[in-house]
Amino acid sequence: MTISHIKQLFIGLSLAFLCACSPDNQDATSTTWPTFGHDVSNNKFSSLTYIDTSNVSRLQEIWRYGDTTEGGGIYFNPVMMDNRVIGLMPSNHLVALDAGTGKLLWKFVPDSSIISNWSKGLTYHPGNPDRIFLISGGTLYAINAENGTVIGGFGNNGRVDFYEGLEVPDSMRANVPVSSNAPGVVYNDLFIVGCKVPDELPSTPGDIRAFNINTGKLEWVFHVIPKPGEFGAETWNTNARTRNGGANCWAGMALDEKRGIVFIPTASPSFDFYGADRPGQNLFANCLLALNAKTGKHIWHFQTTHHDLWDRDNGSPPNLVTIKRNGKEIDAVALVTKMGYLFMFNRETGESLFGVNEVPVDTLSSMPGEKPWPTQPIPVNPPFARQGYKEKFFGRSSEWIKEEISKNKYKTGIYEPPSMEGSILLPTAHGGSNWGGAAVNPETNRLFVNSTDIPMILKLTDLKKIRADNQLNPEILYRTYCSNCHGADKKGTGVGPDLTGRVKKYKNTQMASILQKGAAPMPSFGFLSPEQIASIVAYVKDTVKQQSFETANIPQNNEPYGFNGYSFYLDPQGHHAIAPPFGTMTAIDLNTGNIVWQVPLGEDPQFKKMGIPNSGMFNRGGGIATASGLIFIGATGDNMLRAFDQKTGKVLWEYQLPGMASSIPSTYAVGNKQYVVVSVNGEQKNNFKGGYIAFATP
Ligand code: HEC
Repeated sequence: MTISHIKQLFIGLSLAFLCACSPDNQDATSTTWPTFGHDVSNNKFSSLTYIDTSNVSRLQEIWRYGDTTEGGGIYFNPVMMDNRVIGLMPSNHLVALDAGTGKLLWKFVPDSSIISNWSKGLTYHPGNPDRIFLISGGTLYAINAENGTVIGGFGNNGRVDFYEGLEVPDSMRANVPVSSNAPGVVYNDLFIVGCKVPDELPSTPGDIRAFNINTGKLEWVFHVIPKPGEFGAETWNTNARTRNGGANCWAGMALDEKRGIVFIPTASPSFDFYGADRPGQNLFANCLLALNAKTGKHIWHFQTTHHDLWDRDNGSPPNLVTIKRNGKEIDAVALVTKMGYLFMFNRETGESLFGVNEVPVDTLSSMPGEKPWPTQPIPVNPPFARQGYKEKFFGRSSEWIKEEISKNKYKTGIYEPPSMEGSILLPTAHGGSNWGGAAVNPETNRLFVNSTDIPMILKLTDLKKIRADNQLNPEILYRTYCSNCHGADKKGTGVGPDLTGRVKKYKNTQMASILQKGAAPMPSFGFLSPEQIASIVAYVKDTVKQQSFETANIPQNNEPYGFNGYSFYLDPQGHHAIAPPFGTMTAIDLNTGNIVWQVPLGEDPQFKKMGIPNSGMFNRGGGIATASGLIFIGATGDNMLRAFDQKTGKVLWEYQLPGMASSIPSTYAVGNKQYVVVSVNGEQKNNFKGGYIAFATP
């Protein structure tokens, strides 16, 4: 803790003392935003009340700090400590801004010019000095929060190789990029962190690790895919640690400091959609894990999807809550999922506090060797997303959909095993909920969660056939493999970033290598030939010269099956083949699990023009809650930042941002002025390259 920090605390305390009975009462910790979920409970809750339902409509943009050179997305909210707003830029440079003015205080530039800007790995730890743990391009850095310099005593000159403790042979490192797109938590002198590993093969187990916060030394490792002989090993083939991989934590963790328990949501095993080479239940993939924070030992786990074949990662950080039941208070951990479920467990025992049924599901797979697990856990409390694609969900004229489904023999259940014929999934790998997770107001015990309600068509593809085909037309290749995420015009969609700006500057070999490896959620295109990849690269860079493509030396991925990308299921007009709302905001009573209200989130301008207002939208990012009864959330493709009323779900304020806010906002106070700050993705047509925008009342 720094001197100004103590001063701030002191002022905060004296203010609290002076006006303990005033509604403006703000204690010291409430003025900051220390970590992405506000604190280790992940409730994204601020007790600030300066901005409330009566004055929120007067919010104005106060400052913005935009990138000038790079341009791109930011998928992480900034922290605010010691009057500094600290966040990542699209370039992955770390910046510290004056919290009141947005003026640049310092900048830290990581060693490697990294390619992926999907990073969310920033953890602030008050100490002497305050430090920031940042994972960027395969390196874990400890950075002095006062001036942005590395902390020499940590690891090797402020750096630890982020492969440390993962069992990736040196020969495989080039093909298995490991980073982190979630922050860790600090418990005593341990920095506990997950990692991001490829969703496709080759991959590596995403083991959970703890590093000493002062020295960077590796202190413990928890094997998310158990080694032979370890608890859970019998749920895999014996070679799973070298053959498969994944089961990593990319969503972020919650920490019960008093009990010394860290709660860790894990992702699906690699490869996501075909699991014949990983028969079994696959523990500890798709789990909520409770580990002893000091030792990394297993306490309990709950698996939310057995033998995942649908990429149903636990992608939302868990929330620590306290529920009331029969006059008693129970400390619980809540988890919202891509399936649109809210699970609730006793923190100590893992006992499920709402009922959960193991429901029999379809086990008939047409894929060679695939053995889907016969049951899946479904909570009895109501889901916040529509379940299983049904004709009635199509709305409009259901004749088309009826015909489509019967003609193509699409299956539409929530756990249909993937096939080459295709099935329509709802909810999907996009969610339900995703990395925005849920916000909780502990004073009213309400949970607020944003969710996407859009069907996806999942088809496995025969990679041998595609390789043999070796189609070289660049436009056809781009349209087949890229446009559903990056847009036919290459300018990006809610799923994939704009490819027309800085990305075009990548060297051909660099871009070819990204495509070869993939960058989750972007799949790997290692199944394409080097000539095909070179052809796509030339197309993306607008340097297409028919027939002659300079090819990079690309090793091929030998998986038998791939998938068709995360493709939305669309009607003949190109609209989501489902009735609105395409995205929602839901309030849930934590004591009962019941839904209090559900409203559309976002408004698709296209649908509005067609006379369908409040359509809701695909959303990425999440909301925060304040003690004054507000929810702030961006997350939608209409580029709005909105304030909702926690009581009713009514929109009280909205503001047109120059790009999409695909993270969650942060709120803090300087003096007695409350700010809301949000990271905003770059958008060329608005001449904005990505950065931070802060709001306050004048
Ligand atoms: C399923 C959706 C999806 C598909 C299909 C997809 N991408 Fe991506 N792509 C993404 C996402 C999401 C990212 C950002 C990942 C990250 O930053 O880690 C990305 C990143 C990239 C990047 C790096 C951008 C950067 O900012 O560094 C390039 C280049 C790229 N994609 C090109 C392509 C091409 C070419 C294709 C077709 C062969 C393709 N993508 C197919 C979703 C997709």
